[in-house]
Amino acid sequence: MKRINGEIWPDAEGNEIHAHGGCRLAFGKALYWYGEDRRGDAYVSCYQSLDGGKTWRFVRHILTADSPVKKIHEGRDLSLRNSDGNRVNIERPKVIYNRNTGKFILWAHYEDGINYHAARCAVASCDTPDGDFVYHGSFRPVGYMSRDCTLFVDGDRIYFLSASEHNRDLHLYRLTKDGLDVEVFVQKLFAGQSREAPAVIQKDGKYLLVTSFCTGWKPNQCAYAVADRMEGEWSENLPLGDATTYLSQPAFLYEREDGEIVYFGDRWGGNAFAESAFDRSQFDYQKSAYVGYRLVFRDGKAELIHSHEAFL
Ligand code: DGJ
Repeated sequence: MKRINGEIWPDAEGNEIHAHGGCRLAFGKALYWYGEDRRGDAYVSCYQSLDGGKTWRFVRHILTADSPVKKIHEGRDLSLRNSDGNRVNIERPKVIYNRNTGKFILWAHYEDGINYHAARCAVASCDTPDGDFVYHGSFRPVGYMSRDCTLFVDGDRIYFLSASEHNRDLHLYRLTKDGLDVEVFVQKLFAGQSREAPAVIQKDGKYLLVTSFCTGWKPNQCAYAVADRMEGEWSENLPLGDATTYLSQPAFLYEREDGEIVYFGDRWGGNAFAESAFDRSQFDYQKSAYVGYRLVFRDGKAELIHSHEAFL
């Protein structure tokens, strides 16, 4: 199915896909696409594709304001509604399969739906990729602020990256074997550079980390850094794409069967917001759309290829 960058994309039933700031998981014969759905009491939607990502069928909301809750650690806030009884914000949900335990783990960014002061991560888990996830609460990892985030599986290790210290620094954490807690704060990356929307991929022995700058919903120029090991030294940030990363912010990166890398991003507010030259009064989250661009990663250098039609 042909998809145009920035246009509304329908699912297999013709309904608009709501899966922002999300992630993609290959499991068994299926692909799963998870992301934010900010309508009503829905938090995280799950779509499944059985044709390699051409069509996506909505499966269910795997996390909602009414999800089951299970306390697994002290000191975590288990509420899925705020003090007014309204929805909270569960942003940038990332789901991975934890081969150590056979469970599916979800980490996301939690805010109380009133402001962006909580700066916490949120954790949930499930026995299946598309079942009802059980919520284990929100907290600050090792006491640090935590906003935009991603998960990355590297062999039997699971990493969590999130923007900390009022978004000034990006933190890299290694998780416990069960993937439900932080084992160790590995390192601070790009101190003072205000990077967010992290996305990681490993290819040909190199790790590539793409981030955006912090400008709210308005797009800016992304940057990339390269390392030989997640816990090793990361290169300096180099620019990626044009001044607005072709009107997008990263959600995730994935490798296609033919070895090509896809940069999958959100166009917050959709083409309407871009056309208003990012006038904040014109911003409507529900009009947000997606982009897929080809990312060429060779000899430690990355380049983003602009296209009208999505490269997926
Ligand atoms: C940019 C972040 O990347 C988004 O996930 C969201 O938190 C917006 N900021 C909110 O302004």
